[in-house]
Amino acid sequence: MAIMCKSPGEIEKMRRSGRIVRQVLDATVAAVKPGISTMDLENLAVAKIEELGAKPAFKGYYDYPCVLCTSVNHEIVHGIPSAKRVLKEGDIVSIDCGVVLDGYYADSAVTVPVGNHLKPEIKKLLDVTRTSLERAIQAARIGSTVGDVGATVQEMVEANGFSVVREFVGHGIGTRLHEEPQVPNYGMRGRGPRLREGMVLAIEPMVNVGKPETRLLDNKWTAVTVDGSFSAHFEHSVAVTKDGPVVLTA
Ligand code: MF3
Ligand code: CO
Repeated sequence: MAIMCKSPGEIEKMRRSGRIVRQVLDATVAAVKPGISTMDLENLAVAKIEELGAKPAFKGYYDYPCVLCTSVNHEIVHGIPSAKRVLKEGDIVSIDCGVVLDGYYADSAVTVPVGNHLKPEIKKLLDVTRTSLERAIQAARIGSTVGDVGATVQEMVEANGFSVVREFVGHGIGTRLHEEPQVPNYGMRGRGPRLREGMVLAIEPMVNVGKPETRLLDNKWTAVTVDGSFSAHFEHSVAVTKDGPVVLTA
């Protein structure tokens, strides 16, 4: 399948989905504190998505069981909410949410600390990962390439001594959660598909404090760092427009 370019009307629909994802994430993040479980966050998100009139994008996708992915500490992505996973001071949790409204998807993630006593190295991990996403968004312009986006993330991350995950990548998004192209968080400037007006990309750096290698837990979903180091994940759905990149999940 070719990379689908969206009309301004379609992008407007995706902005509505994106706004809902943002509201769900904001409500969920506001509830993060020591003692709350990742299933509590899931239940909040379920209620919020329903209240806002959207449908969850993840639940049932390849039989994924929940509306959120909640990935704690050395979990990189696709952590499955659980009443047994009670967050504690010093943890970090990535909350990833997608919804579909009127046939159009949006997808976003954020990683936040639990409590107020964050180790400086972990604060740096969150800052570097968030900033690498902001820079990658700025690289998502007509005439740039997917390689420019990936290189932007990789350069920022590696300059700060962290590593970029290879096995999971960002993606096009639109009338499906995952569309072409794949959007790696590494690459070479000038390489890869050229970005054109109307493309929408879910850009999602996954960054490890230590080594980049990943493995899957026995649940066959959750990716963790092999070396046990902490990992952060931020994601926005971004439209490539004549006016530059537009973050639909802002
Ligand atoms: N943001 C993630 C992604 O784009 C979440 C997918 S979870 C799944 O891959 F269950 F839907 F696969
Ligand atoms: Co995604």
